[in-house]
Amino acid sequence: MRIIRTENYEQMGRQAANLIAAQITLKPDSVLGLATGSSPLSTYRHLIELVRQGDISFDRVRTVNLDEYVGLPAGHDQSYAYFMRTNLFDSVGLDASRTNIPNGLAQDGDAECRRYDELIASLGGIDLQLLGIGLNGHIGFNEPDDVFVQGTHKVKLTDSTIQANKRFFEKEEDVPRYAYTMGIRDIMQARRVVLIASGKGKAETIARAFAGPVTPRVPASILQLHKDFTLVVDADAASLLP
Ligand code: F6R
Repeated sequence: MRIIRTENYEQMGRQAANLIAAQITLKPDSVLGLATGSSPLSTYRHLIELVRQGDISFDRVRTVNLDEYVGLPAGHDQSYAYFMRTNLFDSVGLDASRTNIPNGLAQDGDAECRRYDELIASLGGIDLQLLGIGLNGHIGFNEPDDVFVQGTHKVKLTDSTIQANKRFFEKEEDVPRYAYTMGIRDIMQARRVVLIASGKGKAETIARAFAGPVTPRVPASILQLHKDFTLVVDADAASLLP
């Protein structure tokens, strides 16, 4: 595990964008695993800037996103499909045929989870997976559990996640209760993993995940066992790391 400590959120985004840009430079047809939420916004802004400057191109890149809310159509302004289009895809010229995200409206949830795992396999796996981390240590929507769940699955969101995500919705009742998420095996099979975190609010989570035991009660802790894992944290999020 490598740790890159940065001064603040913007620098965290720049460092993560540089790692992704290096990946695309070395392998222009990379498969990138992507995340949503507040953490990756500065990373995506820096990537868009690198594309504008002509330093990198997403022309041959394909993407798979970690998760999607069950029940939200791709056009809903709180769906992760919409988030990705407006915060990255449209600005770097990634058209829908080269991006993938679980279908929140799938009729048959089990079939959708199987389809997603087969899709990742058919792309040859993920070259670089970008992750945020939930306050309870979740990655994707792999919530604390007694076991590490392997493949893509439907998950009931915990109260802590619903509380954390309600800021994006008009009312708490509007926050979907279920999501599809890649599983821990999907994430661990990525050839490189980069997790970004910023702010004092994440400090305790970061210390539990990366300076404590590996346990499914803190799902991100399994990344300690990944062969090519980089943690990019700002000073506040790193403040409780030894
Ligand atoms: C989002 C995702 C989640 C978030 C996590 C942190 O696709 O998979 O695990 O990364 O909930 O969210 P933020 O960045 O909003 O604190």
